[in-house]
Amino acid sequence: MVDAVPTGAETAAEPAPPAYDLAGRVAVVSGGASGIGYATAEALIGAGAQVVVADIDPTAGQKAADTLGAWYAELDVTSSADWARLVENATKVFGGIDIGFLNAGVDTGGAGLDSLTDAAYRRIMAINVDGVVYGARALAPAIERRGGGRLVATASLAGLVALPRDPIYTATKHAVVGLVRALAPELAGRGITIHAVCPGLTDTPLLGGAKAYLEEQGMPLLTPPDIAAAVLGCLRSTETGQAWVVQAGREPLMYKFRGVPGPAGGVRPPKDFRDPEI
Ligand SMILES: NC(=O)c1ccc[n+]([C@@H]2O[C@H](COP(=O)([O-])OP(=O)(O)OC[C@H]3O[C@@H](n4cnc5c(N)ncnc54)[C@H](O)[C@@H]3O)[C@@H](O)[C@H]2O)c1
Repeated sequence: MVDAVPTGAETAAEPAPPAYDLAGRVAVVSGGASGIGYATAEALIGAGAQVVVADIDPTAGQKAADTLGAWYAELDVTSSADWARLVENATKVFGGIDIGFLNAGVDTGGAGLDSLTDAAYRRIMAINVDGVVYGARALAPAIERRGGGRLVATASLAGLVALPRDPIYTATKHAVVGLVRALAPELAGRGITIHAVCPGLTDTPLLGGAKAYLEEQGMPLLTPPDIAAAVLGCLRSTETGQAWVVQAGREPLMYKFRGVPGPAGGVRPPKDFRDPEI
């Protein structure tokens, strides 16, 4: 018997699926009037996509859209009716939607438990969490009708680590990361990938008065185009359910979650109750 001579074909890895091409896609960017959303809208247009700048601020939103050559849609991400209207109108104008960047977000300005009002709490939960849930729920069927596509949500490093300066912001961003990871399998079955982008401190109006202090402390700040580049990386990726860390001076990287111990005795929960890492 002659040993088979390996040709290499037996062990060759499956060819990598082609990266997702952004040219000709229709993308909705929430919070697109400013900061990270604006820079991402600009990068998407640069990559050949058509962009809907969706923002609660009509003056800044319209100005951004005019400057970028995008379409403006007034959207309060906390309103499911607004999301439904956006999907209907964008579908009429562009024929469909391929990409959703669920990015609008706010912080509490550093409110601790004692200074946190009910209104401030409800506001941040509504924008940072409801806004992502409602957006994913409204956009997924539209993206599915196009045969699949992409969702990315803006979380934060505060979605992966505790930020004692703003615990409620931390809670909302942990919610976004958990939501993205848990939604990924269902969305994969519908041809949609979803990622969370987790930027460090980025030079946008969100920093407010903290910017001067951070600069004084020598803290390097990311720029909105840095985050936009990471978002485009998420969109082009064939992975799903990942949290991408973006830190000043580093390439964006997929965060590796540590495995969580399963129950003792080797018993494993049924598959649909199980974190794939257990
Ligand atoms: N700047 C940072 O350091 C940083 C770091 C990590 C994560 N983030 C996240 O990035 C995202 C974008 O923030 P940014 O830094 O670009 O801030 P930004 O203030 O420049 O932009 C936020 C945009 O969201 C819009 N917006 C606010 N509430 C809205 C609502 N209810 N409906 C629709 N649009 C609404 C605003 O009008 C604004 O245009 C947020 O989710 C934020 O939490 C920011």
